[in-house]
Amino acid sequence: MTQALIELSGLGFAWPGHAPLLDIPAFRLEPGETLFLKGPSGSGKTTLLGLLGGVQKPDRGSIRLLGQELTALSAGARDRFRVDHTGYIFQQFNLLPFLSVRENVELPCHFSRLRAARATQRHGSVDHAATALLAHLGLKDPQVLSRRADALSIGQQQRVAAARALIGQPELVIADEPTSALDADAREAFIKLLFAECREAGASLLFVSHDQSLAPLFDRNLSLAELNRAAVATEV
Ligand SMILES: Nc1ncnc2c1ncn2[C@@H]1O[C@H](COP(=O)(O)OP(=O)(O)OP(=O)(O)O)[C@@H](O)[C@H]1O
Ligand SMILES: [Mg+2]
Repeated sequence: MTQALIELSGLGFAWPGHAPLLDIPAFRLEPGETLFLKGPSGSGKTTLLGLLGGVQKPDRGSIRLLGQELTALSAGARDRFRVDHTGYIFQQFNLLPFLSVRENVELPCHFSRLRAARATQRHGSVDHAATALLAHLGLKDPQVLSRRADALSIGQQQRVAAARALIGQPELVIADEPTSALDADAREAFIKLLFAECREAGASLLFVSHDQSLAPLFDRNLSLAELNRAAVATEV
């Protein structure tokens, strides 16, 4: 079997002072795969994404990303590993309001030499990489690229967040309900752009959403309750 992009086994997690939230015997995400993960509000989707990104540490079990055991790394080393290999699109986009569009997109390349090197190799410079990605995502106007991120529409912010996640070709793109603020047409158009960019970069996409209408676009669909034994205990 080829190496999984993500491989979880025997994962257990509880927020301090709370009942077990996640109990996941096994889960794999393959290189290049697009996965749609759904689950009710409060079921632990964002928590799981945080564990995969190495933001939180599980109470037990193993999380391998690209063969690297995340639980064996110090918090600082996990942060570096995450920024090298994972692009994250947050539900609220988390753009830095006082930075320009371009500066926001280039941010991961300031924290990761690997991503800066990949962006430069593919596009000649980090600047050119940002311009090209934003253009693919439909943001071409130079005036928009120098505008502060807090002066953008929601749809524009979302595309900037996607470009920031994609720059420097991380192997894993995680998207946590990134389409909830868009209408149906804009949603599907955005997903198609995201797929095209992930495919070109060979990235896997782990996409969390409540919106079942998007599910058929993905290689695989999964509900968190199918993975999570703790859900059976709490949701029935
Ligand atoms: N930092 C935290 N400290 C303590 N409990 C938390 C924390 N973050 C989340 N939780 C709890 O963990 C549970 C799962 O939350 P999580 O955000 O992972 O759910 P979700 O599936 O992403 O929900 P939604 O669809 O609403 O985004 C909830 O009961 C929540 O209150
Ligand atoms: Mg959530």
